[in-house]
Amino acid sequence: MANLIQLIYSSAASHVFSRKQLTDLLISARKKNDRLGITGILLYTDGSFFQVLEGEAETVDAIFKTITADDRHTQITIILREAISNRLFEDWTMAYAQLSSEEVNVILGSNDFFHTGRSYTQLGEGRAKKLLAAFKEGRWRAKLSNTNTPASNAYSIASVKGAETKPPGTAAATTHGTAGKHWYSFAYQPIINATMGTIHSYEALVRTADNQSAMFVFEKVAEDELPTFSEKISIDAIELAGKLGLATKLNLNFFPSSMESSSTAISSVIEAAGRNHISPDQIIVEILEREFVHNFDKFNESINQCRSAGICLAIDDFGSGYAGLNLLADFQPEYIKLDIHLIRSIYNMGPRQAIVHGIMRACADLGIIVLAEGVETLDEYLWLKDQGIELFQGWLFAKPTFEKLPTTFEIPRQ
Ligand SMILES: Cc1cc2nc3c(=O)[nH]c(=O)nc-3n(C[C@H](O)[C@H](O)[C@H](O)COP(=O)(O)O)c2cc1C
Repeated sequence: MANLIQLIYSSAASHVFSRKQLTDLLISARKKNDRLGITGILLYTDGSFFQVLEGEAETVDAIFKTITADDRHTQITIILREAISNRLFEDWTMAYAQLSSEEVNVILGSNDFFHTGRSYTQLGEGRAKKLLAAFKEGRWRAKLSNTNTPASNAYSIASVKGAETKPPGTAAATTHGTAGKHWYSFAYQPIINATMGTIHSYEALVRTADNQSAMFVFEKVAEDELPTFSEKISIDAIELAGKLGLATKLNLNFFPSSMESSSTAISSVIEAAGRNHISPDQIIVEILEREFVHNFDKFNESINQCRSAGICLAIDDFGSGYAGLNLLADFQPEYIKLDIHLIRSIYNMGPRQAIVHGIMRACADLGIIVLAEGVETLDEYLWLKDQGIELFQGWLFAKPTFEKLPTTFEIPRQ
């Protein structure tokens, strides 16, 4: 039994294709596909391609590699690559349909593919049909591109001076906190407003006293002590940020369980802010998506306490766990931080793009700001920026800095 797969991708034509150019492309593709046992369909409309390739896994992957290298199109985005039991396009070495956005119904019977009798509605109920329908309705249309230059070559990196900070206070950074030096401390990572070219906020990230990652801190804390511990370190993070002269916002991490179990969690944050001349509206409380909220009344109490003090809320790592949508359905924060896993290589990962589009649409409806964290490459940044995201956090812009509020960062620009 053949190892059949189906690969579906979308791309942007490098230039406007004439009918002759499309026909030439199709004729040569058909010949080669016939020889290789590849079937499928190629759709073209307004500068966007959408192609389904079916056949032996190795053969499909090889032809896709050739197609990917073809400079007649760019922004190649894999939407699906999965094993199939039967071919959908058994009769065609490469069917072809040209769609016009004005006449979406043209897909029925307007060309050789549909003239042969099998109509669009006869393609079964698989995902390929749903994706073809989505393309027909205007989804998965990569933008017409006028350049063949990969994005990463087209941009240069500029160093931008960040937000000014107040002059640091008296005490040395390591002697922060009400109880003097601790076995843990903090690194601060800027969150950048890429449109304004400013530092929007700093996220406080707990570290060991010798700057090892949060994992080494949390492994020393018993699970049932986590809520109290997270409350305590939030206060210390505020104290240190205050001493370092925080003049922007400050993001603090909270477990939903600390919001539920401690009645003092938020009030002690407000008090610590006050002691350090930080206004509550500079504070953003990030709630981890990973954990379920068990006692919604208690949780709501803390949320209301934040809201009435002017503290903003964010759902952290949105898309990484199982609680995010439930959390979002029940309370709407000011921010959602997209999880690193969704961001990674998003520029060529169709499913991640679809999920982020969905989140963006929901957040636009709900008036929530979407922030991208863990952005590491220029292509990730450009894709996300193109969707309208303005706030970014990640190594591409600035790394976390131990016991400092870094003021320089990079914004990749054209
Ligand atoms: C949007 C698009 C779709 C293509 N689809 C196919 C295809 O299905 N089969 C194919 O052989 N070539 C296809 N090509 C052309 C290939 O990229 C390549 O030019 C062709 O396979 C000849 O390659 P070769 O002469 O180096 O073997 C496509 C090109 C583009 C721009």
